[in-house]
Amino acid sequence: MEKICVIGLGYIGFPTAVMLANNSWQVIGVDIDEDVVNKLNRGEIHIGEPDLHMMAKSLLEKKRITLSQVSEPADVFIIAVPTPKTTDNTCDLSYVDSALQDILPHIRNGNLIIIESTVPPLTCDTIIKPILEDRGFKVGRDIFLAHCPERVLPGRILQEIIENNRVVGGCTEMCTQKANLVYSSFVHGEIIPTDAKTAEMTKLMENAFRDVNIALSNEMVKICNSLGINALEVLNMANKHPRVNLHMPGPGVGGHCLAIDPYFIVEKAPDAANLIRWARKINSDMPVYICDKVIELIGSSPGLKIAVLGVSYKGNVADVRESPALEIISALKMKGFKIALYDPLVDMEGILLSAYDAVKGADLLLILSDHDEFRYLDGGLICRLMRNPIVFDTRNILDATEREQLNYYNLGNVYDHK
Ligand SMILES: NC(=O)c1ccc[n+]([C@@H]2O[C@H](COP(=O)([O-])OP(=O)(O)OC[C@H]3O[C@@H](n4cnc5c(N)ncnc54)[C@H](O)[C@@H]3O)[C@@H](O)[C@H]2O)c1
Repeated sequence: MEKICVIGLGYIGFPTAVMLANNSWQVIGVDIDEDVVNKLNRGEIHIGEPDLHMMAKSLLEKKRITLSQVSEPADVFIIAVPTPKTTDNTCDLSYVDSALQDILPHIRNGNLIIIESTVPPLTCDTIIKPILEDRGFKVGRDIFLAHCPERVLPGRILQEIIENNRVVGGCTEMCTQKANLVYSSFVHGEIIPTDAKTAEMTKLMENAFRDVNIALSNEMVKICNSLGINALEVLNMANKHPRVNLHMPGPGVGGHCLAIDPYFIVEKAPDAANLIRWARKINSDMPVYICDKVIELIGSSPGLKIAVLGVSYKGNVADVRESPALEIISALKMKGFKIALYDPLVDMEGILLSAYDAVKGADLLLILSDHDEFRYLDGGLICRLMRNPIVFDTRNILDATEREQLNYYNLGNVYDHK
């Protein structure tokens, strides 16, 4: 049985480690966070993914996975550590570098090193390969290096890790072939072989595509509101065209992928990446647009109360990383509004027990995440509880019948004041 060492046991690394162990690999899971390792060793889990806990528990009991804070010799190393952006919007590769430094003493001829972390184009060829070759190994002959990015959806990671098509990009053809063998042990989707830089760029373009398309719709909202045209009606009608798919506009783009990865393209090709840079700017400016619209709707007199529903960056997840809601909430507080918060999934200071607690006495109900729970809020009850029953639903989530008794706005009809 071949031995594989997975470095970084987060949303990507841990399910990957579990899946490999379930498919005949002997897995060593490594994480620098003592709490993560201890928790997993106690049979608990730090990631809320359906079915992952049961599968992990049984594989840990059978010792198909062992967990540690330090790496050890193996046949294959997979690096799945964070790659956040720095304050100047470049990729922070320090976690990848520290993971590499950790495994370097164990690397020997024949080893395969796979980078699953999302990285800027050319990182494997120009940064990681030289670090390995400085140790006297020739990549493609002595050892093998590949980038195999992830594209799973939180909440469906276990299924998608198996079913999704997978891009596997080696620094040489032999590197690609070696990496292919690892993924074909558990992936049922198509495995698409390529080189490392194409794999790196492919991953980033997937997220840039979505970011740019959301920016197009956000820009349409601003144009339509300035012209008195309902942007959401335009979107619905345009999408009846068989080859058009305008994305949903919203209060901004959050999460750890769409709001970050496009910057890694801009970083590497600043003169060429104009549309991608502008799309990031359009989406990053949306929280300010939302705050301006709030003031247009209710003014800015001291003491006005806003009930904010939804803090996470998208519906039905608890993730608040890069969430535009956080920026909007803090800007509204700075402007002197009283804020009452509710989110059924997010555990954060100040979150109330229900949407109805939040709307009591409010002058505006501002919906920022499209959690299913918000779809069927009782419009009549909201109307009775609020001081002024004005709703600004930036996600267009509230059911049409519940809107009737309310002074209801969404991104389609918050027209600019003339
Ligand atoms: N989560 C996703 O849906 C997703 C999807 C595609 C790609 N990615 C990419 O995958 C990578 C990992 O993301 P994630 O969501 O799993 O991150 P995460 O924050 O959930 O987990 C990363 C783990 O790595 C550990 N770690 C950090 N430095 C380490 C080191 N030197 N040695 C060992 N462990 C270390 C951390 O303690 C943490 O537990 C990132 O580059 C991310 O952009 C994530």
